[in-house]
Amino acid sequence: MLVSDEVSEISPEAVDAAVHAALAAIAAATDTAQLKAARGAHMAEGSPLARLNAGMRQVAPEHKAQFGKLIGQGRGQVTQALAAREAQLEQAETAARLEAERVDITAIAQRSRVGARHPLTLLQEQIGDLFVGMGWEIAEGPELEHEWYNFDALNLDEDHPARQMQDTFYVDPVERHLVMRTQTSPVQMRTMLTRELPVYIISPGRVFRTDEYDATHLPVFTQAEGLVVDKGITMAHLKGTLDHIARQLFGAEAKTRMRTNYFPFTEPSAEFDLWHPTFKGGARWIEWGGCGMVNPNVLRAAGIDPEVYSGFAFGIGIERALMFRSDVQDMRDMAEGDIRFSEQFGMVV
Ligand code: DAH
Repeated sequence: MLVSDEVSEISPEAVDAAVHAALAAIAAATDTAQLKAARGAHMAEGSPLARLNAGMRQVAPEHKAQFGKLIGQGRGQVTQALAAREAQLEQAETAARLEAERVDITAIAQRSRVGARHPLTLLQEQIGDLFVGMGWEIAEGPELEHEWYNFDALNLDEDHPARQMQDTFYVDPVERHLVMRTQTSPVQMRTMLTRELPVYIISPGRVFRTDEYDATHLPVFTQAEGLVVDKGITMAHLKGTLDHIARQLFGAEAKTRMRTNYFPFTEPSAEFDLWHPTFKGGARWIEWGGCGMVNPNVLRAAGIDPEVYSGFAFGIGIERALMFRSDVQDMRDMAEGDIRFSEQFGMVV
Protein backbone atom coordinates (compact mmCIF):
# COMPACT_ATOMS: atom_id res chain seq x y z
CA MET A 1 0.00 0.00 0.00
CA LEU A 2 1.42 3.33 -1.07
CA VAL A 3 -1.26 5.49 0.55
CA SER A 4 -3.48 5.41 3.55
CA ASP A 5 -7.18 4.53 3.55
CA GLU A 6 -8.49 8.13 3.51
CA VAL A 7 -6.99 8.79 0.14
CA SER A 8 -7.15 6.75 -3.01
CA GLU A 9 -4.39 4.50 -3.90
CA ILE A 10 -2.26 6.14 -6.55
CA SER A 11 -1.58 4.03 -9.54
CA PRO A 12 -1.37 4.79 -13.27
CA GLU A 13 -4.54 2.72 -13.72
CA ALA A 14 -6.43 4.61 -11.03
CA VAL A 15 -5.41 7.98 -12.56
CA ASP A 16 -6.31 6.72 -16.00
CA ALA A 17 -9.69 5.47 -14.83
CA ALA A 18 -10.48 8.75 -13.08
CA VAL A 19 -9.40 10.79 -16.13
CA HIS A 20 -11.46 8.61 -18.47
CA ALA A 21 -14.53 8.83 -16.29
CA ALA A 22 -14.13 12.60 -16.19
CA LEU A 23 -13.67 12.90 -19.96
CA ALA A 24 -16.69 10.66 -20.59
CA ALA A 25 -18.88 12.77 -18.29
CA ILE A 26 -17.64 15.97 -19.98
CA ALA A 27 -18.37 14.62 -23.43
CA ALA A 28 -21.83 13.47 -22.32
CA ALA A 29 -22.80 16.88 -20.91
CA THR A 30 -25.35 18.43 -23.32
CA ASP A 31 -25.68 21.79 -21.58
CA THR A 32 -23.65 24.02 -19.29
CA ALA A 33 -25.61 22.87 -16.23
CA GLN A 34 -24.68 19.25 -16.88
CA LEU A 35 -21.08 20.32 -17.50
CA LYS A 36 -21.03 22.10 -14.17
CA ALA A 37 -22.25 18.89 -12.52
CA ALA A 38 -19.51 16.91 -14.32
CA ARG A 39 -16.89 19.39 -13.08
CA GLY A 40 -18.19 18.94 -9.52
CA ALA A 41 -18.16 15.18 -9.72
CA HIS A 42 -14.79 14.77 -11.42
CA MET A 43 -12.56 17.72 -10.48
CA ALA A 44 -13.90 19.32 -7.31
CA GLU A 45 -12.96 18.39 -3.81
CA GLY A 46 -13.94 14.83 -3.02
CA SER A 47 -13.76 13.74 -6.65
CA PRO A 48 -11.52 10.70 -7.52
CA LEU A 49 -8.90 12.98 -9.11
CA ALA A 50 -8.88 15.35 -6.15
CA ARG A 51 -8.52 12.45 -3.81
CA LEU A 52 -5.67 11.02 -5.88
CA ASN A 53 -4.03 14.43 -5.82
CA ALA A 54 -4.41 14.62 -2.07
CA GLY A 55 -2.79 11.16 -1.89
CA MET A 56 0.43 12.69 -3.18
CA ARG A 57 1.27 13.63 0.38
CA GLN A 58 1.62 9.98 1.24
CA VAL A 59 3.72 9.05 -1.73
CA ALA A 60 7.29 8.15 -1.04
CA PRO A 61 9.68 10.96 -2.08
CA GLU A 62 11.31 8.93 -4.82
CA HIS A 63 7.93 8.37 -6.54
CA LYS A 64 6.56 11.87 -6.04
CA ALA A 65 7.84 13.21 -9.38
CA GLN A 66 6.51 10.30 -11.37
CA PHE A 67 3.03 10.33 -9.81
CA GLY A 68 2.95 14.10 -9.69
CA LYS A 69 3.46 14.15 -13.42
CA LEU A 70 0.82 11.49 -13.94
CA ILE A 71 -1.81 13.32 -11.92
CA GLY A 72 -0.82 16.72 -13.23
CA GLN A 73 -1.18 15.55 -16.81
CA GLY A 74 -4.49 13.87 -16.04
CA ARG A 75 -5.86 16.99 -14.35
CA GLY A 76 -4.57 19.14 -17.20
CA GLN A 77 -6.34 16.95 -19.72
CA VAL A 78 -9.63 17.15 -17.81
CA THR A 79 -9.30 20.93 -17.33
CA GLN A 80 -8.71 21.38 -21.04
CA ALA A 81 -11.61 19.13 -21.96
CA LEU A 82 -13.86 21.09 -19.57
CA ALA A 83 -12.80 24.40 -21.08
CA ALA A 84 -13.26 23.16 -24.63
CA ARG A 85 -16.68 21.64 -23.93
CA GLU A 86 -17.72 24.73 -22.04
CA ALA A 87 -16.86 26.96 -24.98
CA GLN A 88 -18.75 24.61 -27.30
CA LEU A 89 -21.87 24.45 -25.15
CA GLU A 90 -21.89 28.18 -24.48
CA GLN A 91 -21.69 28.87 -28.17
CA ALA A 92 -24.55 26.47 -28.90
CA GLU A 93 -26.63 27.96 -26.12
CA THR A 94 -25.98 31.51 -27.28
CA ALA A 95 -26.92 30.54 -30.82
CA ALA A 96 -30.13 28.88 -29.61
CA ARG A 97 -31.02 31.90 -27.49
CA LEU A 98 -30.39 34.32 -30.35
CA GLU A 99 -32.53 32.18 -32.60
CA ALA A 100 -35.31 32.12 -30.05
CA GLU A 101 -35.11 35.87 -29.58
CA ARG A 102 -34.95 36.62 -33.29
CA VAL A 103 -36.99 39.66 -34.23
CA ASP A 104 -38.11 40.08 -37.81
CA ILE A 105 -37.77 43.82 -38.25
CA THR A 106 -39.39 43.58 -41.68
CA ALA A 107 -42.54 41.95 -40.30
CA ILE A 108 -45.80 43.90 -40.50
CA ALA A 109 -46.64 45.34 -37.12
CA GLN A 110 -49.44 43.64 -35.24
CA ARG A 111 -52.44 45.91 -35.22
CA SER A 112 -55.77 45.24 -33.72
CA ARG A 113 -58.26 44.53 -36.51
CA VAL A 114 -60.74 47.27 -37.14
CA GLY A 115 -63.05 45.20 -39.34
CA ALA A 116 -64.62 46.54 -42.49
CA ARG A 117 -67.96 48.01 -43.41
CA HIS A 118 -70.11 45.89 -45.66
CA PRO A 119 -69.79 46.81 -49.35
CA LEU A 120 -73.59 46.87 -49.69
CA THR A 121 -73.77 49.45 -46.94
CA LEU A 122 -71.03 51.46 -48.62
CA LEU A 123 -72.71 51.38 -52.03
CA GLN A 124 -76.08 52.17 -50.51
CA GLU A 125 -74.59 55.21 -48.80
CA GLN A 126 -72.73 56.26 -51.91
CA ILE A 127 -75.96 56.17 -53.91
CA GLY A 128 -77.72 58.10 -51.14
CA ASP A 129 -74.94 60.72 -51.23
CA LEU A 130 -75.25 61.14 -55.00
CA PHE A 131 -78.89 62.08 -54.60
CA VAL A 132 -78.29 64.25 -51.56
CA GLY A 133 -75.74 66.02 -53.76
CA MET A 134 -78.62 66.91 -56.12
CA GLY A 135 -80.68 68.26 -53.25
CA TRP A 136 -82.82 65.15 -52.71
CA GLU A 137 -83.67 63.78 -49.25
CA ILE A 138 -83.20 60.30 -47.82
CA ALA A 139 -86.50 58.69 -46.79
CA GLU A 140 -86.95 55.55 -44.76
CA GLY A 141 -89.75 53.09 -44.36
CA PRO A 142 -90.33 50.04 -42.16
CA GLU A 143 -89.25 46.57 -43.24
CA LEU A 144 -92.34 45.10 -41.59
CA GLU A 145 -94.94 46.86 -43.69
CA HIS A 146 -98.69 47.03 -43.96
CA GLU A 147 -100.06 45.24 -47.00
CA TRP A 148 -101.83 48.43 -48.00
CA TYR A 149 -98.58 50.38 -48.48
CA ASN A 150 -96.78 47.46 -50.08
CA PHE A 151 -99.57 46.61 -52.55
CA ASP A 152 -102.92 48.45 -52.52
CA ALA A 153 -101.53 51.97 -52.42
CA LEU A 154 -99.31 51.02 -55.33
CA ASN A 155 -102.30 50.02 -57.41
CA LEU A 156 -101.61 46.29 -57.03
CA ASP A 157 -105.07 44.84 -56.55
CA GLU A 158 -106.13 41.77 -54.62
CA ASP A 159 -105.34 39.26 -57.32
CA HIS A 160 -102.06 40.69 -58.55
CA PRO A 161 -99.60 37.79 -58.87
CA ALA A 162 -96.97 39.55 -56.70
CA ARG A 163 -99.37 39.26 -53.75
CA GLN A 164 -99.34 35.49 -53.93
CA MET A 165 -98.27 33.64 -50.84
CA GLN A 166 -95.34 32.16 -52.71
CA ASP A 167 -93.65 35.55 -53.31
CA THR A 168 -94.43 37.40 -50.13
CA PHE A 169 -93.54 36.71 -46.53
CA TYR A 170 -96.87 37.21 -44.78
CA VAL A 171 -96.58 37.71 -41.06
CA ASP A 172 -98.89 35.98 -38.58
CA PRO A 173 -101.62 36.64 -37.72
CA VAL A 174 -102.68 37.15 -41.33
CA GLU A 175 -105.68 39.29 -40.23
CA ARG A 176 -103.27 42.08 -39.34
CA HIS A 177 -102.20 42.31 -42.99
CA LEU A 178 -98.53 42.73 -42.24
CA VAL A 179 -95.88 41.63 -44.70
CA MET A 180 -92.12 41.85 -44.94
CA ARG A 181 -91.98 44.53 -47.64
CA THR A 182 -91.29 42.99 -51.04
CA GLN A 183 -90.00 46.29 -52.49
CA THR A 184 -88.96 49.75 -51.35
CA SER A 185 -91.87 51.22 -53.32
CA PRO A 186 -94.17 51.46 -50.23
CA VAL A 187 -91.96 54.36 -49.17
CA GLN A 188 -93.51 56.25 -52.11
CA MET A 189 -96.92 56.44 -50.50
CA ARG A 190 -95.53 57.01 -47.00
CA THR A 191 -93.57 59.94 -48.38
CA MET A 192 -96.44 61.46 -50.32
CA LEU A 193 -98.67 61.25 -47.26
CA THR A 194 -96.23 62.79 -44.83
CA ARG A 195 -94.03 65.27 -46.73
CA GLU A 196 -94.78 68.62 -48.22
CA LEU A 197 -94.69 68.90 -52.00
CA PRO A 198 -92.51 68.95 -53.99
CA VAL A 199 -90.95 65.62 -53.11
CA TYR A 200 -87.46 64.50 -54.13
CA ILE A 201 -86.49 61.41 -52.16
CA ILE A 202 -84.26 58.38 -52.40
CA SER A 203 -84.95 55.45 -50.11
CA PRO A 204 -82.42 52.65 -49.83
CA GLY A 205 -83.31 49.61 -47.78
CA ARG A 206 -83.83 45.91 -47.39
CA VAL A 207 -86.64 43.99 -49.04
CA PHE A 208 -87.82 40.39 -48.67
CA ARG A 209 -89.10 37.76 -51.07
CA THR A 210 -89.51 34.03 -50.87
CA ASP A 211 -86.82 33.66 -53.54
CA GLU A 212 -84.30 30.86 -53.81
CA TYR A 213 -80.91 31.47 -52.24
CA ASP A 214 -78.50 31.12 -55.13
CA ALA A 215 -75.77 32.95 -57.05
CA THR A 216 -78.21 35.54 -58.44
CA HIS A 217 -81.04 35.57 -55.87
CA LEU A 218 -81.27 36.35 -52.19
CA PRO A 219 -84.47 36.17 -50.15
CA VAL A 220 -83.32 39.35 -48.41
CA PHE A 221 -81.87 41.98 -50.70
CA THR A 222 -81.47 45.71 -51.06
CA GLN A 223 -83.14 48.27 -53.27
CA ALA A 224 -83.10 52.02 -53.59
CA GLU A 225 -86.35 53.69 -54.45
CA GLY A 226 -86.43 57.12 -56.01
CA LEU A 227 -89.49 59.36 -56.13
CA VAL A 228 -90.04 62.83 -57.48
CA VAL A 229 -93.36 64.66 -57.39
CA ASP A 230 -93.37 68.23 -58.61
CA LYS A 231 -95.00 70.46 -61.18
CA GLY A 232 -94.00 69.86 -64.78
CA ILE A 233 -92.06 66.64 -64.22
CA THR A 234 -91.61 64.63 -67.41
CA MET A 235 -89.97 61.42 -68.45
CA ALA A 236 -86.99 63.46 -69.64
CA HIS A 237 -86.24 64.30 -65.99
CA LEU A 238 -86.36 60.61 -65.18
CA LYS A 239 -84.00 59.74 -68.03
CA GLY A 240 -81.62 62.56 -67.08
CA THR A 241 -81.55 61.43 -63.46
CA LEU A 242 -80.83 57.80 -64.33
CA ASP A 243 -78.10 58.79 -66.79
CA HIS A 244 -76.49 61.04 -64.20
CA ILE A 245 -76.41 58.28 -61.59
CA ALA A 246 -75.07 55.81 -64.15
CA ARG A 247 -72.20 58.19 -65.00
CA GLN A 248 -71.44 58.85 -61.34
CA LEU A 249 -71.23 55.16 -60.53
CA PHE A 250 -69.87 53.69 -63.74
CA GLY A 251 -67.88 56.43 -65.45
CA ALA A 252 -68.40 59.19 -68.01
CA GLU A 253 -69.27 56.76 -70.81
CA ALA A 254 -72.11 55.12 -68.89
CA LYS A 255 -75.75 55.76 -69.85
CA THR A 256 -79.17 54.14 -69.55
CA ARG A 257 -81.89 53.02 -71.94
CA MET A 258 -85.52 52.18 -71.29
CA ARG A 259 -87.63 49.28 -72.48
CA THR A 260 -91.41 49.45 -72.14
CA ASN A 261 -92.78 47.38 -69.31
CA TYR A 262 -95.70 47.28 -66.95
CA PHE A 263 -95.79 48.27 -63.30
CA PRO A 264 -99.19 49.01 -61.72
CA PHE A 265 -97.89 52.11 -59.93
CA THR A 266 -96.36 53.84 -62.93
CA GLU A 267 -97.78 54.81 -66.32
CA PRO A 268 -95.98 54.65 -68.62
CA SER A 269 -93.56 52.14 -67.11
CA ALA A 270 -90.19 50.92 -68.25
CA GLU A 271 -87.39 48.65 -67.31
CA PHE A 272 -84.07 50.34 -67.66
CA ASP A 273 -80.69 48.99 -68.64
CA LEU A 274 -77.28 50.36 -67.87
CA TRP A 275 -74.55 50.73 -70.48
CA HIS A 276 -71.56 49.53 -68.44
CA PRO A 277 -68.45 50.75 -70.30
CA THR A 278 -65.90 48.98 -68.08
CA PHE A 279 -67.70 45.67 -67.53
CA LYS A 280 -65.22 42.81 -66.91
CA GLY A 281 -66.22 40.85 -70.02
CA GLY A 282 -66.45 43.96 -72.24
CA ALA A 283 -68.84 46.93 -72.40
CA ARG A 284 -72.49 45.88 -72.49
CA TRP A 285 -76.10 46.61 -71.55
CA ILE A 286 -77.22 45.23 -68.19
CA GLU A 287 -80.74 45.19 -66.73
CA TRP A 288 -80.76 47.39 -63.69
CA GLY A 289 -84.21 48.37 -62.48
CA GLY A 290 -87.76 49.52 -63.06
CA CYS A 291 -89.10 53.03 -63.48
CA GLY A 292 -91.91 55.14 -64.83
CA MET A 293 -94.16 58.15 -64.36
CA VAL A 294 -96.13 57.91 -61.13
CA ASN A 295 -99.57 56.55 -61.96
CA PRO A 296 -102.28 59.24 -61.49
CA ASN A 297 -104.20 56.69 -59.37
CA VAL A 298 -101.31 56.60 -56.92
CA LEU A 299 -101.14 60.39 -56.78
CA ARG A 300 -104.88 60.54 -56.19
CA ALA A 301 -104.67 57.94 -53.40
CA ALA A 302 -102.17 60.27 -51.73
CA GLY A 303 -104.50 63.24 -52.15
CA ILE A 304 -102.36 64.86 -54.84
CA ASP A 305 -104.05 66.39 -57.88
CA PRO A 306 -102.58 64.71 -60.99
CA GLU A 307 -103.72 67.69 -63.07
CA VAL A 308 -101.29 69.90 -61.15
CA TYR A 309 -98.51 67.56 -60.18
CA SER A 310 -96.72 64.76 -61.93
CA GLY A 311 -93.86 62.57 -60.85
CA PHE A 312 -91.47 59.81 -61.68
CA ALA A 313 -90.27 56.84 -59.68
CA PHE A 314 -87.64 54.20 -60.07
CA GLY A 315 -86.27 51.23 -58.18
CA ILE A 316 -82.78 49.81 -58.51
CA GLY A 317 -81.22 46.64 -57.14
CA ILE A 318 -78.16 47.36 -55.01
CA GLU A 319 -76.84 43.78 -55.02
CA ARG A 320 -77.01 43.72 -58.80
CA ALA A 321 -75.20 47.04 -58.99
CA LEU A 322 -72.47 45.75 -56.68
CA MET A 323 -72.22 42.57 -58.72
CA PHE A 324 -71.54 44.22 -62.03
CA ARG A 325 -69.68 47.18 -60.60
CA SER A 326 -67.18 45.13 -58.60
CA ASP A 327 -67.31 41.89 -60.55
CA VAL A 328 -68.83 39.80 -57.76
CA GLN A 329 -69.79 36.45 -59.26
CA ASP A 330 -71.94 35.07 -56.49
CA MET A 331 -74.51 37.13 -54.57
CA ARG A 332 -74.27 34.76 -51.64
CA ASP A 333 -70.87 36.27 -50.83
CA MET A 334 -72.76 39.46 -49.97
CA ALA A 335 -75.04 37.66 -47.53
CA GLU A 336 -72.61 35.50 -45.65
CA GLY A 337 -70.85 38.22 -43.69
CA ASP A 338 -67.32 36.89 -44.16
CA ILE A 339 -64.99 39.74 -43.21
CA ARG A 340 -62.53 38.64 -45.93
CA PHE A 341 -65.13 39.53 -48.55
CA SER A 342 -65.84 42.95 -47.05
CA GLU A 343 -62.16 43.78 -46.59
CA GLN A 344 -61.55 43.63 -50.33
CA PHE A 345 -63.63 46.76 -50.70
CA GLY A 346 -61.45 48.70 -48.30
CA MET A 347 -62.19 50.61 -45.18
CA VAL A 348 -64.19 53.66 -46.11
CA VAL A 349 -65.60 55.57 -43.19
N1 DAH B 1 -90.70 47.94 -57.06
C1 DAH B 1 -90.27 47.36 -58.28
C2 DAH B 1 -89.63 46.02 -57.96
O1 DAH B 1 -89.56 45.50 -57.15
C3 DAH B 1 -89.22 48.22 -58.96
C4 DAH B 1 -89.79 49.47 -59.45
C5 DAH B 1 -90.37 49.55 -60.69
C6 DAH B 1 -89.79 50.60 -58.66
C7 DAH B 1 -90.90 50.71 -61.18
C8 DAH B 1 -90.34 51.79 -59.13
C9 DAH B 1 -90.90 51.82 -60.40
O2 DAH B 1 -90.36 52.90 -58.42
O3 DAH B 1 -91.42 53.00 -60.87
O4 DAH B 1 -89.15 45.34 -58.51
